[in-house]
Amino acid sequence: MEGLEPAGRWTANERGDAALPPMGWNTWNAFFYDIDEEKVLASAQIMLDSGLAEAGYRYVNLDEGWWSHRRQPDGRMIVNTERFPSAATADGATSFKPFTNHIHAMGLKTGIYTDIGRNTCGQAYGPDDANLPQGSIREREVGLYGHIEQDVALFFEEWGFDYIKVDGCGIRAFGEDSEGVEAGRYRALEPLIDMASIARTDIAQVKSLFTDVAEALAASNRDDDYIFSVCLWGAANVRAWAKEVGNVSRTSNDITPDWTRMLTNFDTTVSRALYAQPHSWNDPDMLFVGQGEFDADHMREARSHFALWAIVNAPLLIGYDLREATDEQLALLGNREIIALNQDPAGHQAVPVYNSEDVQILVKTLANGEKGVAIFNRGLAPIDAVLTAEHLKMNAEKAIVLRDLWNGDMMSFTGEAEMSVEPRETLVFRASGERALTGGIYLSEMPGDVNVAEDGIEYPAGDPTIHRSVIPWTGTRGSGEIPTYAGWGGAQADRTPFGLPLRLDGEVVSSGIGILANSRLEVRNGGHKRFAATVGVDDSASLAGDPVVFSVYIDGELVGQTEPVTLAGGPVPLAADIEGARIVELVARSETSRPFDLPVVWGEARLLR
Ligand code: GLA
Repeated sequence: MEGLEPAGRWTANERGDAALPPMGWNTWNAFFYDIDEEKVLASAQIMLDSGLAEAGYRYVNLDEGWWSHRRQPDGRMIVNTERFPSAATADGATSFKPFTNHIHAMGLKTGIYTDIGRNTCGQAYGPDDANLPQGSIREREVGLYGHIEQDVALFFEEWGFDYIKVDGCGIRAFGEDSEGVEAGRYRALEPLIDMASIARTDIAQVKSLFTDVAEALAASNRDDDYIFSVCLWGAANVRAWAKEVGNVSRTSNDITPDWTRMLTNFDTTVSRALYAQPHSWNDPDMLFVGQGEFDADHMREARSHFALWAIVNAPLLIGYDLREATDEQLALLGNREIIALNQDPAGHQAVPVYNSEDVQILVKTLANGEKGVAIFNRGLAPIDAVLTAEHLKMNAEKAIVLRDLWNGDMMSFTGEAEMSVEPRETLVFRASGERALTGGIYLSEMPGDVNVAEDGIEYPAGDPTIHRSVIPWTGTRGSGEIPTYAGWGGAQADRTPFGLPLRLDGEVVSSGIGILANSRLEVRNGGHKRFAATVGVDDSASLAGDPVVFSVYIDGELVGQTEPVTLAGGPVPLAADIEGARIVELVARSETSRPFDLPVVWGEARLLR
């Protein structure tokens, strides 16, 4: 397999200005299609006045609703000047430059929205009163399709935007038999994405279109000061490739201001810690703090939503009309302690260390050696949760100090601590203590430095562990939606690809990477001298005889390898000298014809000083 050859370098995206998860504000959750300049500037001003900008919120992003039409025949995009009066020009060409100048003069940055196809989500799914493009069929083709370089140059070079969100409805919802095409409103574009069928989705072609955007963005932004947001809602196996292309990538369909929908979106990101790194973050969609079940009467829910997004390194994009915000809501969005978890420079997404339908415990390695901890009660009954030293990978004999990030309270425990968590509450702490592993770090503690270059999945499948909610746009019609976003069976920190504890030869392995055979990991070394692990086929494998060879490469060169390892034969140690290496690559190869049955373990995989 080609993808198993050592690359000798980090292959995930490093372009763009997203060393940390982006923070800002976006029109969509606040105003839906009904956007205008006054509304946008009002929230931007409140970002400044309330201290949110100082707390890190920088981007003021337009979502759908800014366009008038695509001028014919030259294809220039024209701004809706009734909505954005400052864009009017004497010759009718329109320009967002006055708008972006205004935002930049406020010390903020600004983003624009488009679609990878010819037409948009609003044109496919919007209500009749949606603020949609006007004109002839061609004029209403406002998406990037056939205009990638032209539009990207216009948005970034001429208009001065700093961020772009590229949606995908145009390559999903405009087939011959779609309503809009049949009614003669739009030209047909053979769908590349079938949300219900990964087999009928042209993954390579989707990736290629988004790669073209990435190239255009790089060409139009020589200073690298841009963010590319990929909005494919977890479809098209985007998990496997968006990290090579964009800076943030949506993991699920749209969030709504409902508790259970928030859970759905959260679940699509929480199991993907190894698929997010600096410059390529998982995006469970924008914040809904302020509305519905996260409104001023539901501050506990709002705090949970915000803290969960923060600890999984989601982009923090406020989706609320800030003119409506209470002081308490502004204080939540501006909570420096929670923001600091999200913006921690090490860039490690939290890892779920305890999982159940009712409670989850998430732990995030921080740059200063502390651990961020969230104890999340998903349900409707209070729960007594126990946090252990093992969850934190800390020494169970020594005192561990917890600082409560909501109220500053300090507490100390040895071994384990019990705490009660109210329904829908999330306790959030910083923990400090002696590390269980002294002199090194487990790979599962540093997901931001691990790139899953190949995860061994040949047949992408939906993840059945994602919370299934009533989706407001269909209600309870039909039989209920099981999310089909491909991703089941991917690499996991401290778990098998299918969510089980790692187990080698009957023993649970508490630290390690679980992945399928025929996979390759790229690991940033960060100055360590030695790699060590116990490797083997996980006990959950269904075939005992299939051999796997585990190899270690540094900067492309083989430095360690096992004999063929089987489940029956048991695990073996594997160590290698990695001094001076930039990138360590871990490859598990199997000749078996059924690799999807072959979960393997990089047990206690660690880098040592
Ligand atoms: C899609 C996206 C949303 C939003 C709308 C706009 O549904 O997922 O985030 O941009 O389109 O129509």
